[in-house]
Amino acid sequence: MNKNILVTGGAGFIGSNFIPYFCEKYPNYQIINLDKLTYAGNLDNLKECNAMSNYTFILGDICDSTLVSKIFEKHAISDVIHFAAESHVDNSIENPRIFIETNILGTFTLLENFKKTHKDSNQNRFHHISTDEVYGTLGIEGSFSEKTAYAPNSPYSASKAGSDMLTRAYFHTYGINAVISNCSNNYGPKQHAEKLIPTIICRAIAEELIPIYGDGKNVRDWLYVIDHCRAIDLIFHNGKIGETYNIGGRNERTNLQIAYKICDILDRKHPRKSGKRYSELITFVKDRLGHDRRYAIDATKLETELEWKAEENFDTGIIKTIEWYLFKEKLI
Ligand SMILES: NC(=O)c1ccc[n+]([C@@H]2O[C@H](COP(=O)([O-])OP(=O)(O)OC[C@H]3O[C@@H](n4cnc5c(N)ncnc54)[C@H](O)[C@@H]3O)[C@@H](O)[C@H]2O)c1
Repeated sequence: MNKNILVTGGAGFIGSNFIPYFCEKYPNYQIINLDKLTYAGNLDNLKECNAMSNYTFILGDICDSTLVSKIFEKHAISDVIHFAAESHVDNSIENPRIFIETNILGTFTLLENFKKTHKDSNQNRFHHISTDEVYGTLGIEGSFSEKTAYAPNSPYSASKAGSDMLTRAYFHTYGINAVISNCSNNYGPKQHAEKLIPTIICRAIAEELIPIYGDGKNVRDWLYVIDHCRAIDLIFHNGKIGETYNIGGRNERTNLQIAYKICDILDRKHPRKSGKRYSELITFVKDRLGHDRRYAIDATKLETELEWKAEENFDTGIIKTIEWYLFKEKLI
């Protein structure tokens, strides 16, 4: 079946991994990437798509209703896969307003335009990409399932929770064919240097101090970005209307374990000229305000209903990630 899919935020980390994967796998789909190119968007990460005849880039803001409406009309948009967001928790603590605008009002603008053309249609899908952070924080036991109550703790996660609720409401009220996926922390090539894993890699190879919040014992459940793209593919095509699917890699690690792992790999792949170990650069800094202690995803629903399984374990995924940054810095 032919489709004209509006992908929002495709120049960001996950979108720029997803678009080449999707364009190549589905040559009969036209992918229209709407991205505002904030500091987090980078078209260099989509260079491989420039030669693809089923890819179009549009510079613009998802909050701009006139533009979004024109795109729906001109490109006869059949489906939406919505990645665009302000995504960095630290920034949401400093400047929450833009998170409310993009994540809530932007999602609302897309839903309104989608509703106009695709109310009560089973054929046309709105896939909203969200985060496990909407569930709040865990103690040492347990994991987030699709039934876990929402309890967001940061302005970022609150704005994502708001956008999830709007998507859910447009399904219940207007009958749009919506699905929501809530994933754990992604890692892999093309991620912005502000996030934990690129920070550790980039600081280490620049021989700068590697900052770790608090005691370094906060736990995240790491998901390799291409495994995430494969999950989105399955949910977009086969997920049940109005349902939520949690996506996680079953790879729980403390931030400190991640830092030591990366340093050990760099010691082997790109030893320091001084002969010192990279781990000597690790330094503890004042903790993030309201820092959630632990996230862990129960991905049973996705694994059983849609037969998804992560292909990458953390040991293999982190090596690919480090190699990508070393290559980018022309160090291999
Ligand atoms: N990265 C993760 O670990 C992670 C985990 C869970 C959920 N998510 C969710 O996945 C989605 C993608 O995350 P990411 O890491 O790729 O984010 P990112 O910050 O790397 O990219 C976001 C992209 O959205 C674009 N954008 C921002 N505001 C926009 C606007 N108003 N209009 C149009 N484009 C705009 C940016 O230019 C950028 O290209 C987000 O919705 C995020 O909440 C990410």
